Amino acid sequence: MDTSSSAAFPLHVAIIMDGNGRWAAARNLPRSLGHREGVKAVRRVVECAPDLGVGVLTLFAFSVDNWRRPRREVGVIMELMADYLRSETDRCVEKGVRVTVLGCTQGIAPNLQTAIREAQARTARGTALWLRVAFNYSSRDAILSAAARFRRDRDRSKAAFSKLLAQDGERTAPDVDLLIRTGGEKRLSDFLLWEAAYAELHFTDVMWPEFGEEDLTSALDDFRGRERRFGCVGKAAVGATEAVPAGALAWLE
Ligand code: IPE
Ligand code: IPE
Ligand code: MG
Repeated sequence: MDTSSSAAFPLHVAIIMDGNGRWAAARNLPRSLGHREGVKAVRRVVECAPDLGVGVLTLFAFSVDNWRRPRREVGVIMELMADYLRSETDRCVEKGVRVTVLGCTQGIAPNLQTAIREAQARTARGTALWLRVAFNYSSRDAILSAAARFRRDRDRSKAAFSKLLAQDGERTAPDVDLLIRTGGEKRLSDFLLWEAAYAELHFTDVMWPEFGEEDLTSALDDFRGRERRFGCVGKAAVGATEAVPAGALAWLE
């Protein structure tokens, strides 16, 4: 198993885009305007991500628990998602951005379901960036559903389960390398619990509507300065440890 992030393994960045409501409240604006500004931040990040070396970008846009919010707010988020997909698809095709949506389509308005299908179909050939939007998403629901399918699978390895969870058509998303949460909270809120097992975590107080290229660059700089160990010993300790018995790490391959 290659534990480094190299060109052969596209860097997977996942973002919990939090803080839209507080950004708006701090300006005496309705929360819906925070969500509207949040869409602009999505555009900025999608635009700069490929140049910053990001190959897969998973954005948390709406959780299954977000249905608990006031109906009007939920309605605004649904509309913004449909508008985003409709207005950005041409640009995504032009820029080679492949868009897929993860989450449950049940309960989502038919017009949004159509927008999702069209965006996915039209951008399917993009190779510059794989943009995965988690919408009406719950990681625990995704794990439960994959587990039900896994029971019928002959291969019972962790790798096989990961594939089941992250596969979309012919492609499988790699595990998350860097997980960013904006808005100052330090929790995962049911996002990519399996896929982020060894992700580096980056929490920032920047509210999502203000997030941009500089913030993504500094999160990536922070990530690149970290030493990922995957349970092994750190570089500083190499040489000071016992040799690993042959075959002991075979399961890592
Ligand atoms: C994130 O911002 C967007 C969604 C969850 C849909 P919030 O709306 O959660 O913003 P805060 O956390 O209330 O500031
Ligand atoms: C997580 O944010 C969901 C999204 C960013 C879409 P929340 O604002 O819903 O999370 P909690 O409620 O603070 O945990
Ligand atoms: Mg929030």
